Amino acid sequence: MRQLIPEPPRSGEPELSTVYAYPRNARRWLRANLVASVDGLAQADGASRGLSGPADLRVLRTLRGLADVVLVGGATVRTEGYRRPVVAREEFAAARARDGQPPAAAIAVVSASLEVDFDSPLYTEAVTPTITVTVADAPADRLERARAAGEVLIAGPHGRVDLAEAVDRLVDSGRGRLLCEGGPKLLAAVAAVGRLDELCLSISPQLRAGDGLRLLDGPQFPAPIGLSLHTLLTDDGFLFARYLIT
Ligand SMILES: NC(=O)c1ccc[n+]([C@@H]2O[C@H](COP(=O)([O-])OP(=O)(O)OC[C@H]3O[C@@H](n4cnc5c(N)ncnc54)[C@H](OP(=O)(O)O)[C@@H]3O)[C@@H](O)[C@H]2O)c1
Repeated sequence: MRQLIPEPPRSGEPELSTVYAYPRNARRWLRANLVASVDGLAQADGASRGLSGPADLRVLRTLRGLADVVLVGGATVRTEGYRRPVVAREEFAAARARDGQPPAAAIAVVSASLEVDFDSPLYTEAVTPTITVTVADAPADRLERARAAGEVLIAGPHGRVDLAEAVDRLVDSGRGRLLCEGGPKLLAAVAAVGRLDELCLSISPQLRAGDGLRLLDGPQFPAPIGLSLHTLLTDDGFLFARYLIT
């Protein structure tokens, strides 16, 4: 991994935990981390695996290692096979303990339908209990299953989760270091309600064309959301851009 921007004071591998450290004094910091092809697709044959690579996975692991909660949309949980919780990693243990964080981030599944497998290891083997973020009129039997499986956060009366409320409630509960891993619908919705602070974009050295979801999938924003480039890293042909919302 090489740091291109800002120009590093000396050569050598950048320390990813330092490069991606959450701002110290922010009560809330919600960053998203997704991978896209150079032509902007966030899917390769229906999943993101074909876009990713070892360096991208290192960044993903680092971002998880720093976060309190990882937000994931219901469709991503279903299509990406999100069956595993975040594991506690030795390399982050000391910093997490120092910062009063549990040994691993909790995954928060955002789903109104609750078409989620509550018997999967994502729920049954989580070091930090998996959170289900849903709506008041979610199917009652599934809501009961969700409650038995972990923490449930109800945000919004019906249909779609009120993401502003969900994020604010996580922050109010002391979990302000948030990471959104998508998919594109969840990312667009989080950005639309003004809760996105940073985008960590892995640009995969591929062109794909064809159909598939772009990085954000939702109604056009009334005005573009401006970004400023904070950091740019490169490894194995990938670019890892850290953009702050302006
Ligand atoms: N390139 C990448 O880094 C990356 C990352 C993640 C995913 N992906 C790909 O993206 C695809 C899935 O993404 P997606 O955009 O279709 O879905 P998504 O963002 O993963 O999930 C959307 C789902 O979230 C739930 N939801 C509840 N309230 C919502 C709200 N207010 N706004 C938005 N969503 C809400 C709903 O779940 P229910 O239907 O359960 O109610 C909705 O169907 C997959 O192909 C996956 O492989 C790519």
